[in-house]
Amino acid sequence: MCGIIAYTGHQQAAPILIDGLRRLEYRGYDSAGISVVSRKKVRTWKASGKIAVLESRLPESINANCGIGHTRWATHGAPTDENAHPHNSADETLTIVHNGIIENVDALKARLGDVEYQSETDSEVLAHLLSHTMDLNNCSLVDAMREVLTRIVGTYGIAAISSAESEKIILARSGSPVIIGIGEGEMLAASDMSALSRYTREVVHLDDGEVAELTPDGFAVTKLDASPADKSSMTLVNNLEDYDRGGYDHYLYREIVDQPDTVRRTISGRLDKRFNTAHLGGLNMDPRDLLQVQRIKILGCGSALYAGMSGASMIESLSRIPCDAEPAAEFRYRNPVIEANTLYIVVSQSGETFDTLAATREIQRKGGFVLGIVNSVGSTIAREVDGGIYMHAGPEVSVASTKAFTAMLSVFALLAILFGRARDVSPQRGAQLLKALEDAPDKIADVLALETHIASIANKHAKCHSAFFIGRTAAFTVALEGAQKLKEISYIHAEAYPASELKHGPLALVTSKTPCVVILPESELLEKSLGTLEEIKARSAPVIAVTDSDNSRIDKLADDVIRVPRSDELVQGMIMGVALQIYAYHSAVALGRDVDQPRNLAKSVTVE
Ligand code: F6R
Repeated sequence: MCGIIAYTGHQQAAPILIDGLRRLEYRGYDSAGISVVSRKKVRTWKASGKIAVLESRLPESINANCGIGHTRWATHGAPTDENAHPHNSADETLTIVHNGIIENVDALKARLGDVEYQSETDSEVLAHLLSHTMDLNNCSLVDAMREVLTRIVGTYGIAAISSAESEKIILARSGSPVIIGIGEGEMLAASDMSALSRYTREVVHLDDGEVAELTPDGFAVTKLDASPADKSSMTLVNNLEDYDRGGYDHYLYREIVDQPDTVRRTISGRLDKRFNTAHLGGLNMDPRDLLQVQRIKILGCGSALYAGMSGASMIESLSRIPCDAEPAAEFRYRNPVIEANTLYIVVSQSGETFDTLAATREIQRKGGFVLGIVNSVGSTIAREVDGGIYMHAGPEVSVASTKAFTAMLSVFALLAILFGRARDVSPQRGAQLLKALEDAPDKIADVLALETHIASIANKHAKCHSAFFIGRTAAFTVALEGAQKLKEISYIHAEAYPASELKHGPLALVTSKTPCVVILPESELLEKSLGTLEEIKARSAPVIAVTDSDNSRIDKLADDVIRVPRSDELVQGMIMGVALQIYAYHSAVALGRDVDQPRNLAKSVTVE
C-alpha cells in the first residue's frame, strides 16, 4: 500500500527520504517519488517501478533540508511516471503526497474549473485546491490545508511542502495513518513506523481530523477548526532498525523459522499456573464481565479472518460460548445488530486495516465493547479498541503473514483457556491446555525440521495450475490459510473446501492434475476424513496428507505424508499451519516468485 515519508531538519533531506522509501518498500508499491524545497523552489523527481529507477534519475547532489517522499500502490490510474507522487500545483510552488482515496474528486475538479491535470490520480486535485485556496485567501499552507479538508470526502494521510515556507511540512490525517517522529533539531513523519525507527524512537500518532505543522524544532497539531489538539508522544519498543532477513534469502523464510520464538514471546507471562488459566492484562474485563459474555463475534480480513475462524472454534469448544468469525467489511456493511452481551474481537497484524478499523468504529458507535488482538503497538486499532491483547510477534515485513498469523492463534488459545476456565473447563484440563501451549514452540521447531521433505513435495507439484486444501471443522480453517498462503506467494490457484462439501460440487474439478492437501488431525472425525481421502484417490488426484495421526490407512491412501508432532487439539492448527507455510514458500521459490512482495498485494491495506 502507499507509503509516506517526510523530513525537515539539519541534515540533507534527499538521502533520508530515499532511505525512508526503501523501508516502506515491503508494503508493496509500483512507483515512487520525492520532492524537496531547494533554494526556495520545489523540485520533484518521480518514476514508475522500483526505487532504484527513481534514484537513477536524481542529480548527484540535492542541497535541501526539507522534503517529502512517496511509494505509490496504484488505485486511480496506471503505475506511470506521471501518476507517481508527489503532485505539484500548476505554478510548482507546492507539492503533496497522499495515501487514501478522494471519493468526491469529480465534484472538486468541477469546482476548480480550468486546470490542466498532469496525472490520472485523484490525489493531484489536492495540490491544485491548496494552491487555489492559498491564492484566494492569501493564507499559509496550513490554513489552506484545514480549509480544503473540509471539502474532501474520502480517506487521507497527506504531507505537503511549499516554497513559501521552506522548512515547514504540513500533515493531515483521516483514515490513513500518519506518524510524527521527533528528533533533535529535526522532525520526520511517515505512514509507517518502520520508516522512522532509524532516526528516532519518540513518536506521535496523528488522529483523524488533525493537521500538523512540522519545523526542525518541533510540531503543532490542530483540529480542522484550528483549535489545538492535545498530543503526547510514545517511545517505540521494537527495534525495527535491527530487523533484517537474518542471513536468509527472504523475510518470509526468516518469519517462518522465527515462529517458535514468536509463540514463546506471545504467551510469555500470560500462563497463570496457579489457577490453570490465562492472564491477559489489557482486557479491561473482570471475571464478572467474562461471565456476562453470551456470544463472541470475531472480525478481521484475509489471514487475520482465518485466524479468527480458528480462534472461534477454539473458544467455542472450550467455553461453549457461541462464537464465530466474519469478514470485517461484510459485517460493517450489513448494518449488524450489536448486542450488549456480545464480545466483539477485532484481529489485525498492522492495526491499520481500513475495513477492520471501520467495523470497530461501527460497533463502538452502536455501544458495543470491542477487544483488539493487534501486533503493531500504538496503531490506530490498538488505540481505539476498548481492551486489547498485543501479539508481541515483533515486526513482520514479508507481505504474506506467517508469524503474525501464528501469534494470532496463540492469543486465541490464551483467550479460549481464559473463557474455558471461567466456565466449564476443570483445573486439571486447564493445566493440560497450558502445557500444550507451552510445548507448542518445540513442536513448531520439529515441523521446521521437516523442511527438506516438505520442499521435495512442493517441488513435485509446483507446476500444477490448481490445488485443493481440504479439512473438516477446525481443520478446515487450517486449510483456508494453507490455500491462502499458496495462492498469494506462488500464484497457483488454490481453494479450500470443507471435506463434507467436496461431493456437493468441487469434486468435479478434482483430477490427476490437481494436488489435494488434506488436513487430518487425530480426532474422532479422522475416520470420516479418511473416507474423503478415498473419494479423492478414486479421481486419481495426488494426495498430500498433513497429519499428527499414525493411522496406517493414511500412509496407504496418500501419495505423500507430512507427519507433524501429535498435540492437543487447541494447538493442532498452529502446528499444522507451519507445515503449510513451508509448502507454500518452497512452491513459490521453485517458481521464482517475488516471495516477499507478491504481485498486486500490499502489507497494510489502509484503503477500502
Ligand atoms: C495474507 C495477509 C493478509 C492480511 C490482511 C489483514 O498473508 O497478510 O490477508 O492478513 O490484509 O491484515 P492485518 O492483519 O494487518 O489487518
